[in-house]
Amino acid sequence: MKRMFTLSLIALAGSCWMASLPADPASRQVTQESMRRKLDFARGVLEGLTLDRLELVVTNAQALRDLTQTNAYTITGNPNYRAATTNFSRHVDRLIDSAKAGNLQRATEAYHDVTRGCIGCHKTFRPEQFRKAQAEAAKP
Ligand code: HEC
Repeated sequence: MKRMFTLSLIALAGSCWMASLPADPASRQVTQESMRRKLDFARGVLEGLTLDRLELVVTNAQALRDLTQTNAYTITGNPNYRAATTNFSRHVDRLIDSAKAGNLQRATEAYHDVTRGCIGCHKTFRPEQFRKAQAEAAKP
């Protein structure tokens, strides 16, 4: 009973978040396009790390950082989304600094945190993944 109550509270809090996300197709499309580009830059970073070409890591990570600040979800001003973005940008900054310093090991660790940041944010804010996480939490 208590568990049901807690689960309903989580679902309620979740739907409040989702409600504050932009629902209109136009702004979703802007975010989706910028996310697709994020994926390309994240791939570029991986290429730079795996081939020990740190200049590739720097340029791709910088592009990733610039994109992070400009999507439709950030513009809605949801404080939780902003916090997730700030946290994510911090990892990207560490990635840039480590690559500039020529430290492949530290850059690899920072990339790991960046990747976790993509997944963590998607589980909370990407509609498809959010719903799946909710459904799993509600299973007996
Ligand atoms: C601060 C939150 C946040 C972070 C960090 C984040 N994303 Fe996303 N991402 C989203 C949201 C929200 C969506 C859903 C957009 C929609 O469907 O309206 C999304 C969607 C996507 C999509 C699907 C786009 C489509 O065509 O439907 C891809 C690909 C993606 N993100 C890649 C990434 C990658 C790669 C990273 C990390 C390098 C990343 N994202 C980091 C919030 C985030």
